Amino acid sequence: MERIDQIVKKHQQTISPTIPILQEIQAIYGYVAPEFLVRVAELIDVPLSTLYGVVTFYTQFRLEPLGKNHIQVCHGTACHLRGADQVFHAIEYESQTSAGEFSVEKVACLGCCSLAPVANVNGKIHGNLTADQARKLVKKLKS
Ligand code: FES
Repeated sequence: MERIDQIVKKHQQTISPTIPILQEIQAIYGYVAPEFLVRVAELIDVPLSTLYGVVTFYTQFRLEPLGKNHIQVCHGTACHLRGADQVFHAIEYESQTSAGEFSVEKVACLGCCSLAPVANVNGKIHGNLTADQARKLVKKLKS
């Protein structure tokens, strides 16, 4: 917790320290652990529920560490209309048996709508995905 205390102290005098503190914690640890939220709430005298609201509202924050493989499935309008739900569920189902191996999340438009439905798999865009192709992608990552 010493590191958390240092981060809070560094930002405490700014007008709105909450976001910068959480961003720095996220940058260092890769996520904002619940126990960090408790400590920050004590130090800056903000209700824990408020901090939890901030962390769950902004997609830049996560409460758990990322898995070894990070998969973002676009749920923007174009992808939604072209089967993003089926792609997401196929990926989620295929990856669920490998604890800590996969982080799968729904995200807003990834900026390549002409390729819908789209998933970002470990930083690489995969477009025109079908549920079957999505399952195969995950299987390939498992091996
Ligand atoms: S809506 Fe999915 S990439 Fe734009």
